[in-house]
Amino acid sequence: MRRSALHLTRRTFFGALAAAAGTTALSGCGALGIDTPPGQTGEALRSERPLPRPYEVPLPRPRTARPTGTLTLPDGTIADLYEITQRAAEVEILPGVRTTVWGYDGTFPGPALETRTGRPVVVRHRNELPVPTVTHLHGGHTPADSDGWPLDLLLPAGAAPPQHHGMPGDLAVGSRDHHYPMTQRAATLWYHDHRMDFTGPDVHRGLLGLHLVRDDVEDALPLPRGDREIPLVLCDRSFDADGRLAYPSLDRSLRRVPGVEAAWMEGVLGDVVLVNGAPWPVAEVDAARHRLRILNGANARRFSLAFQVPGAPDLPVIQIGSDGGLLAAPVERPTVDLAPGERCDVVVDLGRVPVGTEVTVVNLPGTGPTRDVLRFRVVRAARDDSAVPAVLSEIDPLVPGPVRREFVFRRGAIGDHAGWTINDRSFDPDGSLADVPLGTTETWRFRTDVHHPVHVHLDPVQVLARGGRGPGPSDAGWKDTVDLRPGEIVDVAVRFTDFAGRFVLHCHNLEHEDMAMMATIRTVPGA
Ligand code: C2O
Ligand code: CU
Ligand code: CU
Repeated sequence: MRRSALHLTRRTFFGALAAAAGTTALSGCGALGIDTPPGQTGEALRSERPLPRPYEVPLPRPRTARPTGTLTLPDGTIADLYEITQRAAEVEILPGVRTTVWGYDGTFPGPALETRTGRPVVVRHRNELPVPTVTHLHGGHTPADSDGWPLDLLLPAGAAPPQHHGMPGDLAVGSRDHHYPMTQRAATLWYHDHRMDFTGPDVHRGLLGLHLVRDDVEDALPLPRGDREIPLVLCDRSFDADGRLAYPSLDRSLRRVPGVEAAWMEGVLGDVVLVNGAPWPVAEVDAARHRLRILNGANARRFSLAFQVPGAPDLPVIQIGSDGGLLAAPVERPTVDLAPGERCDVVVDLGRVPVGTEVTVVNLPGTGPTRDVLRFRVVRAARDDSAVPAVLSEIDPLVPGPVRREFVFRRGAIGDHAGWTINDRSFDPDGSLADVPLGTTETWRFRTDVHHPVHVHLDPVQVLARGGRGPGPSDAGWKDTVDLRPGEIVDVAVRFTDFAGRFVLHCHNLEHEDMAMMATIRTVPGA
């Protein structure tokens, strides 16, 4: 049968790519403990180590990447060049414990890029890992050949490219240049691995980082900045008895057999919540407004964050932006709700509480250790000139034309294996689920069985309706990842521009994505 043949092809393909470097044993083996937490699509992997006490490790800030030079592009424009090496490194995540990660420049999360609208950049990725990788800029308005289509593999430096691999995709060996024109507004983007079948374990080992785009519109606003603009990359991990990252891959070499053990097919949740790579950290802050740029970088965990103050009501959160940058106007929210892949940009006024107060950010659906996230300790009075203006940016509504498409996200079969499908099809590298003309606005309807955060590459979308009503609280502004709750129907307006080629639409629960809940969308020149 065709699909199982495809599945076999994939295995053979990755077998052929076995790289020069030796095997790495990162994951814990043996009997892995499992928990089924409420409010999540996924199962929690229980750590074998005693967990650290929350709110003792200081909140780290991701290092900012600096350009290493400039390049003149074929059209004469100048681009800033960034160079990133993907490599294994030992880092301290749990206090006093060394853990091997796969990191961009060996860090977890990777270095944060800060780029400007209108200033093109080239990011040169070098692969010194033992497996092929693919790098995607999530939220990037990016030409197809730089987007990180899941078979555009970057083979490890020194690997011999297979002669007849028989699979589509553009292979590179050692390094690949990604061209990002940065013709997009200020926003919180992120980059991460996107290798077909192995995105979940690759990201779990550390291949993710932030990419902030700035522009003059945003810079002109009196929002909190400098030390009071804090990026927060959330994720969750589990650790084995030796302090290694534990992940229930079927194939611990991450080369041949995709997917996770059956018990975790709904998603892999960890029992240690990490913020910027640190477990349940604490940040000492001024009594002033802070801008928090929050990314849910977890494989499968969803967050609904509340800012709790002892003996007082929760602090209100002012949402100013979402996936695709600033909202038109700020909105007060009781919580920050984030499915995997989503971003939320908020201002929280930590000047409303007395100096000495500890504000604890908790994940409301969490239980036990996964209810804790991070803490702000308000340690000093300070002057605060920041403000949240009533008008933040201009957002033109997309007006859809007559074309409608429907995408159904549900459990299904990949050949004779259990997996996840879109319109009853598992990811087919040779096919396209839709050919969409550039410049045309369409209505796409998403339907689901369980939770699926649906992500569209190339351009952000606008949510038109959710569950027969208007957009929900997590739908504001330009979105590239739209969370669907069990049984829900969401309509979005989609308009692709500029770049014809191969992109993907997929579920951002990374275990679902790896188990085939992905489709190629081809953009074609408009009429
Ligand atoms: Cu964040 Cu297709 O990915
Ligand atoms: Cu993406
Ligand atoms: Cu899913």
